[in-house]
Amino acid sequence: MVSPVKNRKAGESRDWSQLIKTDGVKGSVYSDPDIFEEELEKIWYKTWVYVGHESEVPNNNDFVMKSIGPEPIIMTRGRDGEVHLLLNRCSHRGNKVCMKEKGNARTFTCPYHAWTFATDGKLIGQAFPDGFQSKEKSELGLGKVPRVASYGGFVFGSFAKEGPSLEEHLGGAKETIDRLLKNSPCGEIEVTAGFLKHKVRGNWKLLLENETDGYHPGFVHASVFQAMDSRINELYSDKSISVSRVYDQGHTEIDLRPEFRKRNEELSWFGTTPERVPDYTAQMKAAYGDEEARKIMIDGVPHVMIFPNLFIAEIQIFVIQALSSEECVQHVTALQFKGCPDINKRLRQQTMGSVGPAGFLLADDSEMYERTHSGLKAQLPEFTYTGRGDHRERRDENGFIIGDSTDDTCSRGIWKHYRSLMEAE
Ligand code: FES
Ligand SMILES: [Fe+2]
Repeated sequence: MVSPVKNRKAGESRDWSQLIKTDGVKGSVYSDPDIFEEELEKIWYKTWVYVGHESEVPNNNDFVMKSIGPEPIIMTRGRDGEVHLLLNRCSHRGNKVCMKEKGNARTFTCPYHAWTFATDGKLIGQAFPDGFQSKEKSELGLGKVPRVASYGGFVFGSFAKEGPSLEEHLGGAKETIDRLLKNSPCGEIEVTAGFLKHKVRGNWKLLLENETDGYHPGFVHASVFQAMDSRINELYSDKSISVSRVYDQGHTEIDLRPEFRKRNEELSWFGTTPERVPDYTAQMKAAYGDEEARKIMIDGVPHVMIFPNLFIAEIQIFVIQALSSEECVQHVTALQFKGCPDINKRLRQQTMGSVGPAGFLLADDSEMYERTHSGLKAQLPEFTYTGRGDHRERRDENGFIIGDSTDDTCSRGIWKHYRSLMEAE
C-alpha cells in the first residue's frame, strides 16, 4: 500500500485548503497519522468532548472509566457530590490508579507504592510519609480535565483551560438535547443499560459523517428494513420531507419530524404504539397534558450528532472514541427514560436487535467504515465528492443551513467546522 503523501514538513503549518474543499476532502485526511496527532491537539484535547452521563455516577464516590480520545478518564462523583474527570496516572511515578470499569470506592490506591487519592483527585495518603518533605500533598493530586460542564445530564470535558463555554459550544444543538429530555415524563434520561463496544478498523471521522448521512440507509440497511417490514425507508428516500441540518460548531442533525408529523402517529418514531407502552403513555399525559404529550410523542427523539463524539440516535446513544488514524471504538447504549420501565425494556430489546452482537444495523455500518477506510487509501481520485444537494441548500427559520435528508449538507458542515478548528493556532 502506498503511504499517503504528506503535505508539510515538521514545524510547518499545513495548508488545509489543499486538503479540504467545500465539496470533498483528500483521502489522506482519514489516514495520515500526523493529521491524527494534530487532531488530538486541536480537537480532542482542546474542544468540549462528551465523556459520560451524570446518571452513570449517581452516588458520591461512584466512578466509571471513560475516555477522551485515546486518553482514559475516570469519571467520578466526589464526596462533595460534584462530577470530576480524573486522569488515570499516579502523580508519583505514573502507574494506573484504577483498573476497574466502574464501582464505588472512597479512594483509589495506587498498587505500586500505595499512594491514596480521594475521588476528587486529591492525594490523601502516602506510604512512609516521613520521606516526603519537599512537596506538599496538595501539589500532588491526580491530573484533572481542567474544565468540566454538563447539559441535561450529559457531562463534557475540555482540556483547554479557557475557551467557549459548553453552552456556547452546543449553540443551536442545545435545543436537540432539550427535545430529547422532553420525551421523558420527568424530563430526565438515564444511561444505565450498559455499553456495547465495537472496535472499527477505520478513521473516526467516517463515523462522524455517517451518523447524519441520510443517503445511505436505504442501501446499506436494506436487508434490515425488509426483514422488519419497517417504514424507515420512507424517512431516507429522495421523496422524504425530512431535512438535514447543520448547527454551529459542526453539530449536525437529520430532522425527521416533518415525516413523523405527516404520519401523525404517536411513537411511530420508535416503531410502536401507545397501547404497547401504557404506563409510559399515561406518565407523559400526566406530565404534559394530553395535547402536548401527543405532540412530543409524534415528534420523538432527535437524530443528532454532537461534534465530535456524541451521537443521539433516537433509541440509542453512541459515543465515538478515536484511538488512532486507523482505529476507533463505538460505545453504544440504549436510551432509558427515568422511571419508565415499560418503554425502557423495549428500548433495550430494540437496541440489542439493531446494534447488539447479533444486530444488523451497526454491523452494516461498520462494514462500510472499514471498506471506505481501506478504499480511501487508493491514490486517485484525490478527493471525495460531497456535493450532493449543494444547489438546494437553504436556511431554516433559525438561520441554520438545511438540505434534503439525503443530501451531503451535514458532511459539508462537519468539514467546514473541522477545517476551522485545524486551521486555528
Ligand atoms: S507510582 Fe503510584 S505510588 Fe508509586
Ligand atoms: Fe447506517
